Amino acid sequence: MRVLVIGGGGREHALVWKINQSPKVNEIFCAPGNTGTAEIAQNVPIPADQIDQLLEFALEKEIGLTVVGPEQPLVMGIVDRFQEKGLRIFGPTARAAELEGSKAFSKDIMKKYGLPTAEYKTFSSHELAQGYFDKETGPIVVKASGLAAGKGVILCRNAKEGLNAVDTIMKDKSFGEAGDQGVIEEFLEGQEVSVLAFSDGSTVLLMDSAQDHKAALDGDQGPNTGGMGAYSPAPVFTDLLRQKARDKIMLPLVRAMKAEGRPYQGILYAGLMLTKHGPKTLEFNARFGDPET
Ligand code: AMP
Ligand code: GLY
Repeated sequence: MRVLVIGGGGREHALVWKINQSPKVNEIFCAPGNTGTAEIAQNVPIPADQIDQLLEFALEKEIGLTVVGPEQPLVMGIVDRFQEKGLRIFGPTARAAELEGSKAFSKDIMKKYGLPTAEYKTFSSHELAQGYFDKETGPIVVKASGLAAGKGVILCRNAKEGLNAVDTIMKDKSFGEAGDQGVIEEFLEGQEVSVLAFSDGSTVLLMDSAQDHKAALDGDQGPNTGGMGAYSPAPVFTDLLRQKARDKIMLPLVRAMKAEGRPYQGILYAGLMLTKHGPKTLEFNARFGDPET
């Protein structure tokens, strides 16, 4: 079988490395890939968000399986496009990937189905957001709802910083369209853990947990990033927590997505905060983690 992996990060290097160990694979491509993937796969100079070109390549090379790394093409509907042409591709459809593409959607689903997550309000105007701060004191989190490459989350110590964050998102448009809608959230304290599972739309199969180093600089200093490195498994994530995460969060979410007519197939990534009241979901991602993979 010929396999195409889409993306160009450490995550894709790991995917190419592992997938290539299957005896079923006789040729593997990576678009656009990197110097690591070049040692194992043939790099293809097509950016991960150029769906037309990727589709053309997959049809021409008769690719038997495509595996998508990053969120952007998933949210843009690459899976739908490939499936329309009868191509086998691993990842959620655009409607399912909205779980990552819209934090507002994701929070609303969690609320509707009673999944544990931080208290929140969504907003789509500056005025509406400002209104929420009258009563708010203490730390709070302000987020751009759309995709912002892991940078659209602002941790605020008080209402003043919160209002500044709303300005950054809504007035300065620092995250572009991703900030057309926003979410204000209760600040959760605890250890963070990444829990990833395979899902076929009905059930989930969890992988080992992981924890990534968020801060840009040594000693946990500097701004948060998508992750500077990771280790797995995460020692804090006990078997009991794992069971809770599966039965109270991941499985109910997959059932909820099915009930909403958005069956979720692919990797479901739950970013959990282990609070003193149990694990709560910070976010869902529609893909493998980078660097966790
Ligand atoms: P997200 O993209 O929503 O996962 O947010 C990125 C990072 O911001 C998370 O990995 C956490 O480190 C932090 N974060 C997000 N939401 C909260 C919250 N409600 N309380 C505390 N930290 C948060
Ligand atoms: N490591 C965080 C992420 O993949 O979103």
